[in-house]
Amino acid sequence: MIGPSLMCADMGNLKRDVQELDQAGVDFFHIDIMDGSFVPNFTMGPDMVNVIRAATDKPLDIHLMIMRPEEHINLFADVGADMISVHIESTIHLQRVLQTIKSKGIKAGVALNPSTPIESIEYVMDVIDYVTLMTVNPGFAGQKFIPTMYNKIKKLHQLIEKESYNILIQVDGNIGYETIPKVLENGAKMLVCGTSSLFKSKGSLHDAVIHLRQFIEGTAKVKTGD
Ligand code: DX5
Ligand code: ZN
Repeated sequence: MIGPSLMCADMGNLKRDVQELDQAGVDFFHIDIMDGSFVPNFTMGPDMVNVIRAATDKPLDIHLMIMRPEEHINLFADVGADMISVHIESTIHLQRVLQTIKSKGIKAGVALNPSTPIESIEYVMDVIDYVTLMTVNPGFAGQKFIPTMYNKIKKLHQLIEKESYNILIQVDGNIGYETIPKVLENGAKMLVCGTSSLFKSKGSLHDAVIHLRQFIEGTAKVKTGD
């Protein structure tokens, strides 16, 4: 699944970019929310999510990189979030905040910083719908993929398979033509696509999505030997 990371979009033409990406066939929209505390940067707020919500019916995936996310779930639920991920490192009541998200009919996700071990989510796997594995340190677009994350994806995939959980693996950070083949091979399904795959300087966003989709399907074919 292709999910453009909208912090990489042209903020002056956000509605236009969302509509172009939607028409090109993306599967969901990834929206990074930063508070300058959990990560040393600021991005969008609920008002921008409102603009995006009005421009598309596709699922909105809210990636909360904020301290004490439990205090802000209602805010993002009210502007039309379909999926919300919270960082395990940002709250002391993870199970409760996940329950709160689920109680609103919203898909619940847990995001893990690169150094956070997979085992840390063992006791919430029964309530989560997806896991966001940060493949860069959160806070900025345009960074380099951390190579040890390939093995982390594989380890999480094996754990999910072993326990037969219905949990999707999302990868976020430098997901592009160099990294996609191996993250797919290791079990990732939801690809957050930013500056290394969609929001490149040359060509239209529409063509970028079509080209990426062909590459992914080609990679999948190689993997299944079709
Ligand atoms: C970083 C964000 C990512 C970022 C991805 O903290 O969570 O979604 O926008 O951008 P690229 O693909 O450029 O790494
Ligand atoms: Zn993100």
